[in-house]
Amino acid sequence: MEFAEVVHNLLPDLNAVEARLRKAADLNFPMLGDIVDTLIGAGGKRLRPLLLLLSAKPFDYDINVLAPAAAGIEMLHTASLVHDDTIDRAQLRRGQPTLNSMFDTGTVIMLGDYLFARSAMLAAETMNPRVVSVFAATLGYICDGQLHEILTAHNLEQTREDYERRIYGKTASLFAGAAEMGAIIANASESQIEAMRDFGADVGMAFQIVDDVLDLRGSTEEIGKPAGLDLRQGTVTLPTMLFMAQADGSPTATAVRRIVDGEDTSDEELRNVALSIRESGALDEAIATAQMFVERAKDRLAFIDDPAMLDPLHAVANSALIRTY
Ligand code: IPE
Ligand code: IPE
Ligand code: MG
Ligand code: MG
Repeated sequence: MEFAEVVHNLLPDLNAVEARLRKAADLNFPMLGDIVDTLIGAGGKRLRPLLLLLSAKPFDYDINVLAPAAAGIEMLHTASLVHDDTIDRAQLRRGQPTLNSMFDTGTVIMLGDYLFARSAMLAAETMNPRVVSVFAATLGYICDGQLHEILTAHNLEQTREDYERRIYGKTASLFAGAAEMGAIIANASESQIEAMRDFGADVGMAFQIVDDVLDLRGSTEEIGKPAGLDLRQGTVTLPTMLFMAQADGSPTATAVRRIVDGEDTSDEELRNVALSIRESGALDEAIATAQMFVERAKDRLAFIDDPAMLDPLHAVANSALIRTY
């Protein structure tokens, strides 16, 4: 099943989520309100709310409760991007100038907090304490991941476990939480809830690995955010780790060490280093790892017999691998 077909079939419900999201993002500030509106409407892929809805589909599906939860997940995601771009000092997001390129850090942090508050209110709208609990735990995981990323920056001597823990926290936990919430709201059994959560987590792991590949493979225009920024800010990702394992000592590896250390780098040098990493096969190797996570994700859903329920979930898992932005 094609991803576009999944989205098409769910369009009325996704529109309900969108409407709820827009309403919740309506801040009562003359100028900031418009800017937040632009950010929310700038073309995010809405993958996490889609995952939440699809995770509820095999069970008791009620869009009236699912819509605020799905909007809350997307709002939580957006809030975390606002803080992430501030931490990363990124100038571009979804092809638009970031809030931190327009305002001082204090204002942006507070705006991010505002969005976090709105996301929590949306989760609370489900009137389901377990959903609120998953929501709170997820926010904790995101902070854990982001803090680990900050604390391990500029350090090439990291293990694969360090990397996986970081990306689980900052990214996969939100996919896990979205899938778990969908299953909880739809009254799935405990074992089904757990399977859905694990499914989401694995899709999220693949999604972040691909993101780390795109950072080295895509252009800024393609990905709508600054390409090569991970290296420049000293974030050591799987493709970089795989490259260093095979090429340490080479001229490009020496350049990688300098860049990750935080030495000034020209855009041209950064592009050349990214090209060498690409030619080394390290990106393909990273993609193979992402594929492994997607396969494991799909295996978790063996308990779903109905292809009409299973195929869309598989399509969402596959979409993590074929995305270009
Ligand atoms: C970006 O997520 C942050 C990561 C976890 C890599 P998305 O790629 O889903 O961002 P949008 O919402 O589509 O812009
Ligand atoms: C995801 O990591 C950050 C969050 C979970 C907020 P990245 O730093 O790789 O995300 P992008 O590349 O800026 O979207
Ligand atoms: Mg970032
Ligand atoms: Mg990234």
